[in-house]
Amino acid sequence: MADKEGIKVEKNYYVDKPFKVDGNFHVKGASNLDWGMKKHLTNIFSPKSGNTVMFAFDHGYFMGSVSGLERLDILIPQLIDHVDVLMATRGALRSCVTPNFRKGIALRVSSGSSMLNDDLSHELVSVDIEDSIRMNADCLAVQTFIGADGQLSSIGNLSKVINAGNKFSIPTLGVIAVGKNMERTSQYFKLATRIVAELGAHIIKTYYCDDFDEVVAACPVPIVVAGGKKLSEKEALTMAYKSIQGGARGLDMGRNIFQSYHPAAMADAIGKIVHNKFTDNEAWEFFCEKTKK
Ligand code: R5P
Repeated sequence: MADKEGIKVEKNYYVDKPFKVDGNFHVKGASNLDWGMKKHLTNIFSPKSGNTVMFAFDHGYFMGSVSGLERLDILIPQLIDHVDVLMATRGALRSCVTPNFRKGIALRVSSGSSMLNDDLSHELVSVDIEDSIRMNADCLAVQTFIGADGQLSSIGNLSKVINAGNKFSIPTLGVIAVGKNMERTSQYFKLATRIVAELGAHIIKTYYCDDFDEVVAACPVPIVVAGGKKLSEKEALTMAYKSIQGGARGLDMGRNIFQSYHPAAMADAIGKIVHNKFTDNEAWEFFCEKTKK
């Protein structure tokens, strides 16, 4: 193993130079993957914009019934036409979502914690590859706790899922979890996103932070940004805009959509930033226009 002290750290991320690998596929780091992987990634990332709006409503896997997600049978039909991908558990999808839609599926496949635990970092792989295939998953979402108590098992879960997904050409989405005692700094996110990408994840979900363009530059696969706790709609649109400006290839947003009084309009406004190059102000005006009475 390399000596931690002896490594010379050259902090040049070449943020102004686009990622370049031979091949012409629209998803970062995926040019050398096989046809099946590329098809799943195309179900997630638009070939036109290269980006995605993922709607995350997998919170119930550890939070139970969250405000805004009490009735998935009522919420999802309102939102499905306004997003590119549904990120959810198999239980929510099978019980509450009729499979008559043409959107991507990001299937949550790790679990093992609940809000009643102090330490949420101990999970296991709870959905096997056969059931993921039955669900027609376009990617397999695994929570990864770098630097937390459960890091070893978490990396074990991630690796197990990547190995299984690779056998059947299903990409893995590494979800970077931030433990209670960790700071949301670019230093931490550079470490965590790069580790998860090097372990073989095809997409990384993380949070926006200062120097986000450096986090993106150092990560060889696409980053999608989590929404995090509920902000005002204007603040959430600004965060989305800064994320895309910083090089994110999309948003994987939950509470800032489903806890809005206007979830569909919010998803549409996010989509304008993600796919149509809207600024945050333009998206805000669009949102106001759509929601005015
Ligand atoms: C959390 O572990 C889940 O992966 C959520 O999907 C994620 O936190 C995104 O939702 P939000 O935008 O509400 O943070």
